[in-house]
Amino acid sequence: MAYKKRKRRHKTKWNYKRIVIASTGLAVLVIALTVVISISGKDKSKDSSYNSGIVADAAQNQSDKDNNLNTIPQKTNADDKQDNTNAVSNDNVNTPTQNVNPTNQAENNDMTSKTSKGYSITEVDGITYVDGVLIANKTYALPADYNPGAVDGEVMEAFSVMQNAAAREGLNIYISSGFRSYETQNRLYNNYVAKDGKAEADRYSARAGHSEHQTGLCFDLNSIDDSFAATPEGEWVAKHAWEYGFIIRYPKGKEDVTGYMYESWHLRYLGKELAKKVYDSGLCLEEYYGITSQYE
Ligand code: DAL
Ligand code: ZN
Repeated sequence: MAYKKRKRRHKTKWNYKRIVIASTGLAVLVIALTVVISISGKDKSKDSSYNSGIVADAAQNQSDKDNNLNTIPQKTNADDKQDNTNAVSNDNVNTPTQNVNPTNQAENNDMTSKTSKGYSITEVDGITYVDGVLIANKTYALPADYNPGAVDGEVMEAFSVMQNAAAREGLNIYISSGFRSYETQNRLYNNYVAKDGKAEADRYSARAGHSEHQTGLCFDLNSIDDSFAATPEGEWVAKHAWEYGFIIRYPKGKEDVTGYMYESWHLRYLGKELAKKVYDSGLCLEEYYGITSQYE
C-alpha cells in the first residue's frame, strides 16, 4: 500500500512536469510561427512594389500609381508599315509596368550621374532611367535581350480609355505598331538602310537596341505617314493625348534634339502627371530632361 501511494505521488509529479514541458513547447512554437509569418508578410510587400515597378520613395509611389505608367512603339515610313500586321495581336498581352525604375535596384546601383538639368541618370541591368523614367534613344540603348514581349498592360489600359474618348467624338484611333523586339527592329532597320541608305534611315528608324518600341511603352497610331497629322484623328491626338498620359515623342521641329523626324503617330506613355508637364513645357523629352540622343 505504502509503495503504491509513493508510486501514485511520483506519477502525479511526472504528469505535472509533462504538462509544463508541453505548455512551454507550445508557447515557443506560437512565438516562432508569429515571427515567421511577420517576416514573410514584409517580403511580400517588398516583392509587390518591385513587381509593379514602383519607385520606393513614398511620394513617388503615389505619383506613379496615380499616373498608371507605360505604353507601346512606332516609326516612320516602311519599318512600321511592315510591322503592322502582327503588332496588335502580339502586343495586347498585359505585362508588368516597365516605365519606372524599381528603386530597390537603383539604390544598389553605383552607375548614377546627372543630366544637364540635374535629373538623375541611373543604369540598371543595362537599362537607363532618367529621374526614374525608362529612356531609349540614340544615346541610351536597351540590351538585346530586353524583351517585355508586348505593350505594357497599363499602357494598353490608358490607350483603351483614350480610344473610347476619341470614339465618342466619332474618331477611330488604333494601334498600327506596338512592341518590337530587338531582332524585329534589326530586320526593319537593315531593310531601310538597304532601301534609303544609312543616313536617311537613321532619320526615321532606330537601330536595333535603340528603338522605343522595344520598351513596350510606346506605339504607332493609324497610318504611319506624314498625312496622319492633318487627319481628324491626328489633330485630336495632338491636342488630347497628354490627358491620357501620352506625349508625341518626336515632335515637329525637334529632329536635331530627338534624332528623328516628326512622327505625329508615335506616342510614348509617361503617365498623366509627367505627360502633362512635358506637354505644358512645349519641350521634347530630351529637352525636358536635358539629355542627348546621338549615336556614338
Ligand atoms: N521610328 C522610330 C524612331 C523607331 O524606329 O523606333
Ligand atoms: Zn513608333
